[in-house]
Amino acid sequence: MSLCYLNGRYLPLEDAQVSPMDRGFLFGDGAYEVIPVYSRRPFRLDEHLARLASTLAAMRLPNPHAEQEWAAMVREVVDRNPWDDQSLYLQVTRGADMRRNHAFPEVVRPSVFLMSEALVTPSRELRQSGASAVSAADFRWLRCDLKTTSLLANCLLRQHAVDHGCHETVLFRDGFLTEGSASSIFIVRDGVLLASPKNHLMLPGITYDVVLELAAANGLPHQLREILEDEVRSADEVWMTSSTREVLAITRLDGRPVGEGRPGPVSEQMYAWYQAFKTTVMRGG
Ligand code: PDD
Repeated sequence: MSLCYLNGRYLPLEDAQVSPMDRGFLFGDGAYEVIPVYSRRPFRLDEHLARLASTLAAMRLPNPHAEQEWAAMVREVVDRNPWDDQSLYLQVTRGADMRRNHAFPEVVRPSVFLMSEALVTPSRELRQSGASAVSAADFRWLRCDLKTTSLLANCLLRQHAVDHGCHETVLFRDGFLTEGSASSIFIVRDGVLLASPKNHLMLPGITYDVVLELAAANGLPHQLREILEDEVRSADEVWMTSSTREVLAITRLDGRPVGEGRPGPVSEQMYAWYQAFKTTVMRGG
């Protein structure tokens, strides 16, 4: 059984209820984070809380908790759930008002919700074969840098992948790579790791930052620049990264093999660095 936190109370997930007038329900007016937890220790918690704070600031929603309060709530939910490795979900909405009105209510009492699930990272088989992806035009709005619960476009785009028997949809806007429906995308060309620079058309991924830090620390040539659709299609390697998928090679794109059609050496190297880094951090080293 899973235990969650909702507006000041810890309770079984099945007993948690919010008002249908909650603006998260009516308008998707909320912010969220997904935080991986390894051996009961949240990974990159400060960075996730900083991103939450910047999403809330852009939404003009006062942050209902100080960072230490958030950290205490996260630890409590982690401790009260049965798994050592968890995917911790955290959401803040602008709360419930008595009438439906697009404009913000005068008095805001945000709704705060935390829950946890067992963390399921890609299986060994999937890592060995690599993932498959389709591509699509990125039809989302112009503030994809905000991690908001208004995710209809991302849901449609992820379902597009599922409809094609694939794991992810790689998004292009005006001929350039943005990201995946729920992941950041990297490519490798001629031994150089390439990523799009952060901007308002993509989420500033926490895993994206870790990957770039590991590239820098290990002397892997890497470059941040706009990436053309053609460069993705003719790349030696394409990867997706996220808090739950970690570093996962994409070996088929739109039915065609990426590079040699199997996970390339740079993705395998980065996966190994990522696992080693996790272990070091989790040991407090
Ligand atoms: N999604 N881009 C998008 C659109 C995402 O939804 C995500 C993660 C990422 C990767 O961000 P990070 O490395 O911080 O997980 C990039 C989460 C996992 C989700 O919505 O479930």
